[in-house]
Amino acid sequence: MTSPPLQASAQAQPNIALVKYWGKRDDVLNLPAAGSLSITLDALHTRTSVRFDPALERDDIALNGRRDDAHGRRVGAFLDLFRARAGIAMRARVASDNDFPTGAGLASSAAGFAALAVAADRALDLRMPARQLSVLARRGSGSAARSIFGGFVEMHAGVRDDGEDAHAAPLLAAREWPLKVVIAITTRAPKSTGSRAGMELSRRSSPFYRDWIAAVAGDLATARAAVRARDFGKLAAVSEASCLSMHAVMLSTRPGLIYWNGATVECLHRVRALREHEGTGVFFTVDAGPQVKAVCLPEHAARVADALRGVAGVEEVLVSGLGEGAQVTGSAAVAA
Ligand code: PMV
Repeated sequence: MTSPPLQASAQAQPNIALVKYWGKRDDVLNLPAAGSLSITLDALHTRTSVRFDPALERDDIALNGRRDDAHGRRVGAFLDLFRARAGIAMRARVASDNDFPTGAGLASSAAGFAALAVAADRALDLRMPARQLSVLARRGSGSAARSIFGGFVEMHAGVRDDGEDAHAAPLLAAREWPLKVVIAITTRAPKSTGSRAGMELSRRSSPFYRDWIAAVAGDLATARAAVRARDFGKLAAVSEASCLSMHAVMLSTRPGLIYWNGATVECLHRVRALREHEGTGVFFTVDAGPQVKAVCLPEHAARVADALRGVAGVEEVLVSGLGEGAQVTGSAAVAA
């Protein structure tokens, strides 16, 4: 009988929601109040390695080479879910590195927890199916459940109290509709209010919160149909509407959550002008941060990137395709 390798590394990519997730039905199990729909990217990566070690007295968690108590506790609690399944108490050393700005609305927590779920599963030889890994990744961050899968992905809110039916599932493979995403970075500063705290504030205080949650199912049905039919115009309309509705909830939270800066707004106008006056296949989406993601037809990506580079306040423009879900990149079995 072989022992679990106790160490593994994995890679995952951030995902960008087109039908947004903003609100929880359970804060402890991190259950979303509604579903969401996303695309997984291929040009931004999180690489995570984990090693469970009997000699360690406590978890040692390094994110981009830095150790932070709050992050350490959050990641340690996440690892507890895997330790419980494996029936071990061993502490672990985790190193996770992003090749893109962290905590600035580029879904670093999505890629981070998806990569760690896949790495911990392999290190402990749990061999859980992808759906179960998605359930567990959700406990780290709601959007992480979606980065387990590639291409177009739908997150199911589920109805069960234990959250076992709140998981993501693949909708369409990246190669079936290889759209591009142009990301305009308007600042590298970390965001002011994290998504977890922001969602809770919105739930408690936005007068639009209930209506927002009630509208998601309809948006999801429209977006799902648009993806299946590769109907870009229909996907553009529902995605921009979902993004702006979510920001309406954020803005109407007390105190208001203003994630945009001036350059963000200029980018939105530029994307609208490209589509409406220049016939470009492009639409925008923005998360809990000031970066603008312009989703476009592959043949229009260069034009969109040039246009956003020309917007005052845009620091950098990245171009990504759609990519695969989280994957193990290495594991070495320790001799039994
Ligand atoms: O799951 P979190 O905590 O990363 O929250 C994600 C929230 C948004 O990025 C704003 C929307 C979304 O669906 O990704």
